[in-house]
Amino acid sequence: MKLSVFIATSLDGYVARVNGDIDWLMKFNASLPADEDCGYADFISAIDTIVLGKNSFNKVLEFDQWPYANKRVIIMARSDVLVPDVLKNKVSVFSGTPKELVRSLNVKDANNLYIDGALIIQSFLNEGLIDELIVTVIPTLLGEGKSLFGRVNQDINLRLIDVKKYDFDAVQLKYAAIK
Ligand SMILES: NC(=O)c1ccc[n+]([C@@H]2O[C@H](COP(=O)([O-])OP(=O)(O)OC[C@H]3O[C@@H](n4cnc5c(N)ncnc54)[C@H](OP(=O)(O)O)[C@@H]3O)[C@@H](O)[C@H]2O)c1
Repeated sequence: MKLSVFIATSLDGYVARVNGDIDWLMKFNASLPADEDCGYADFISAIDTIVLGKNSFNKVLEFDQWPYANKRVIIMARSDVLVPDVLKNKVSVFSGTPKELVRSLNVKDANNLYIDGALIIQSFLNEGLIDELIVTVIPTLLGEGKSLFGRVNQDINLRLIDVKKYDFDAVQLKYAAIK
């Protein structure tokens, strides 16, 4: 089972503004050539299970369209989460720890997991569960916001697998966790 992160941050390391807004990211994405997705389509095509933090799920609900087609989506939430009726066959809610979640999944149909949401990513990192981190750095300074990374229980060392420099000023870093 492989657990991956694919996320965009501002140059100063934020995934969203303090209030959760990602307008700066949407604006940047909208400025890209129509066929440019920084590798997202390739990445998501290999994913069978998406694990979303509750805050990220609530943000995705604001989008015009459900972005995950028919892929299995698991929301990590310890408190109540409102799942709209139209999504009830696509989405489940899990209230345990990352380790418990991984243990509960059947490796046969959960081979490639996409972990999304900063707090959730931090939680999986702290339990030593992330294998690959793909971070696209957007050339914007937000000054404050929700940080991708936070406290760690112990140092987490990574190996740099790839760096892509885009001609629209973004950089994409791909790391593998050293376990
Ligand atoms: N830049 C990007 O590419 C990108 C990608 C994804 C998301 N985002 C943005 O990031 C923001 C959301 O990120 P976030 O960091 O605030 O939240 P998050 O990681 O999406 O969700 C965190 C919430 O999940 C619940 N949770 C359940 N188990 C947990 C655990 N083990 N560890 C941590 N939380 C757990 C908690 O809510 P309860 O305790 O209430 O259950 C917690 O508050 C949104 O604004 C979204 O738009 C940006």
